[in-house]
Amino acid sequence: AEPLRVALAGLGTVGAGVIRLVEANADLIARRAGRPIAVTVISARDRSKKRPVDLTPYTWEDDMVILGERADVDVVVELVGGADGPALSCARATMEAGKAFVTANKAMIAHHGLELAAKAEAAKVALKFEAAVAGGIPVIKGLREGAAANEIERVYGILNGTCNYILSTMEDTGRDFADVLAEAQAKGFAEADPAFDIEGTDAAHKLSILAAIAFGSKIDFLGVETSGITRLRAADIAQADALGYVIRLIGMAETQGDKLFQRVQPHLVPFDHPLAHVDGATNAVVAEGNFSGRLLFQGAGAGDGPTASAVVADLIDIARSTMGRGEIGVPFSVPVAELEAMAPA
Ligand code: NDP
Ligand code: HSE
Repeated sequence: AEPLRVALAGLGTVGAGVIRLVEANADLIARRAGRPIAVTVISARDRSKKRPVDLTPYTWEDDMVILGERADVDVVVELVGGADGPALSCARATMEAGKAFVTANKAMIAHHGLELAAKAEAAKVALKFEAAVAGGIPVIKGLREGAAANEIERVYGILNGTCNYILSTMEDTGRDFADVLAEAQAKGFAEADPAFDIEGTDAAHKLSILAAIAFGSKIDFLGVETSGITRLRAADIAQADALGYVIRLIGMAETQGDKLFQRVQPHLVPFDHPLAHVDGATNAVVAEGNFSGRLLFQGAGAGDGPTASAVVADLIDIARSTMGRGEIGVPFSVPVAELEAMAPA
């Protein structure tokens, strides 16, 4: 069968992880996708940078925005980041060129998800972003597909691996905030600008996407009340411990009638609650469906391997459809026309 030809924009933590995974599991992926998945073209900022993977088999393209126009590309995967800038130009141009688009970029989806979904639906191409929420946990597929028949009133959980790594490591070792943040950065968990992690913005991006999927509503990132963990000190963690609690950064979205409430803030979590035992860069998401009951999704929320796993799962979905066209469904839980007709929550 003809391979699905993939252009990869961004060769950092996640981009290198995707190359490693596609190479290591090539046979298994081809069997499950019904055809091989082949990275053909790559792009990043600095061609001369030394990378942890061998890039000699791939064609370099300087301009990521034109990747979708190339004849040797069926799908563009964007792993650069940033809500606007080249990532957004690349997303728009790719779908306007009639090609499928996969991204791990929650900032871009939180800000421009509706516009991009409209482009995908108009061009009848796939727009997929499983890796944008909770790294390796298939929570978008889980809620959008697995729990599709349920009314969900509340979805909440630990959505930022860096913050959870900082809080749980400080708790276990008494180490200093800045020192543990530097370690999370070295492990590839943090955003290029870690202020997005520690100020709660990254969790807010993810919560707004998760809420839209869970409730079948419009993304409302600006409606997320957000506070991060920058003001927490070792003494706060020790005091919480003495009282029988751990501190976790929790994102919570709930509907009450027509109203949607979304908050990201540090919470005191009692020792006997399942979220109190979510340590390191692990994420966990809880959703209650009116027929499914309580669903708990837990796993690695950041890092190269887990995030690549979610990206390549999206590619397998696309490979199984016809070149990312046709039987692809809509990017969110309901079509964009319905979302656009909804009153603001
Ligand atoms: P990195 O910072 O490690 O890599 C970013 C890549 O994008 C680099 O290869 C860089 O090029 C390239 N790049 C940056 N700016 C530009 C530009 N202006 N033009 C062209 N290329 C550019 O990021 P990550 O791999 O960690 O993250 C990538 C995306 O995945 C982000 O959206 C992030 O939020 C998301 N994500 C990350 C996770 C993680 O655990 N790290 C988990 C889930 C999602 P060069 O290498 O040449 O400098
Ligand atoms: N910086 C993010 C985190 C990466 O720490 O959760 C995964 O989205």
